[in-house]
Amino acid sequence: MLAIGIQGSPLKNGSTAYLLKRCMDELKAQGARIEFIDVPRKDIKPCRGCGFCEKKGFCVINDDDMSKETYGLLREAEIVVAASPVFFYSVTAQAKALIDRTQTLWSRKYRFKLSDPLKKTRKGCFLSMGGSRGRQLFDGVDLVARHFFDAIDASFAGSLTYRDIETPEDMRNVPGLSEDIKQLVTGNLIPAENRKKVLFACKENACRSQMAGAFAQRLGGERLDVMTAGSLPAKEVDPLMIQVMAEKGFDLAFRSPRSLDQAIALHQPEIIVTMGCGEVCPHVPGAVQMDWDLPDPAGKPVEFMEKVRDEIEEKVSEFINTL
Ligand SMILES: Cc1cc2nc3c(=O)[nH]c(=O)nc-3n(C[C@H](O)[C@H](O)[C@H](O)COP(=O)(O)O)c2cc1C
Repeated sequence: MLAIGIQGSPLKNGSTAYLLKRCMDELKAQGARIEFIDVPRKDIKPCRGCGFCEKKGFCVINDDDMSKETYGLLREAEIVVAASPVFFYSVTAQAKALIDRTQTLWSRKYRFKLSDPLKKTRKGCFLSMGGSRGRQLFDGVDLVARHFFDAIDASFAGSLTYRDIETPEDMRNVPGLSEDIKQLVTGNLIPAENRKKVLFACKENACRSQMAGAFAQRLGGERLDVMTAGSLPAKEVDPLMIQVMAEKGFDLAFRSPRSLDQAIALHQPEIIVTMGCGEVCPHVPGAVQMDWDLPDPAGKPVEFMEKVRDEIEEKVSEFINTL
């Protein structure tokens, strides 16, 4: 389970960075894998409002960090912690640039009617603080954050907001901060059920295991913590696989292949399901291993890819029923 922390303050060691780090440390302690996006130190260009994504489903700006890594992280994460100080009653310009660029994900959801496989389980929360004590201090941030979470297919799971914070020292001295963080993380963000860690693996992690992972996340995300990988990972997922999954309403556009070794190190799976590449999968002590022996649809006509997709969907539902 990946949790990402979006750090929106221009200050590297400010109040936002402190609060976010504390929150992410707690998520890690509760078993999440964590990654930070230090937004001001990233090359994230503001949205041009050109409408390209509403027609094509992709952002016209394809050479900055948003396109190269952030969309992928937003898709992989099950927990998204967005953190920004209040700047003029909203989030910082840097955080807003990232948020505006998720218009691409909004377009895929509302124009293309696609939804992310993690839609039912992904949670979003925000952290914020301001120097003053105004009653409406967080109204702007709250609205922006809720619309951001909707665009990225995350359900809103709470916030921590603090008034009267001028310096990081003020932040550190907030009474009851540890309890607030623990309550947010264990009460609202970490899944209630003790989920089984499953790894779906095939050769290139471009078709079969990606489809299996998506179905497992959609059909069994409350009970399964899912990762996918390949013994010889391709450079990118198969566009035809993206197309046939889109026929079913799934958005797999920002997924990318990962190696088996990396997946095993990151995920420590309890169950490994191979799709006919059993002989090259490394042995993981303690993990239950099973093979579905599905044909490789790479390079085959669309009808073949659809047939394999449907077979995988059936196998995944049977698999979930046996858990
Ligand atoms: C450009 C700018 C705008 C700000 N606007 C507000 C504001 O509207 N309301 C408020 O209470 N504090 C405002 N502040 C204060 C910051 O929210 C506050 O100092 C916060 O703790 C900074 O967090 P950081 O250390 O993570 O950057 C503003 C600060 C800056 C630099």
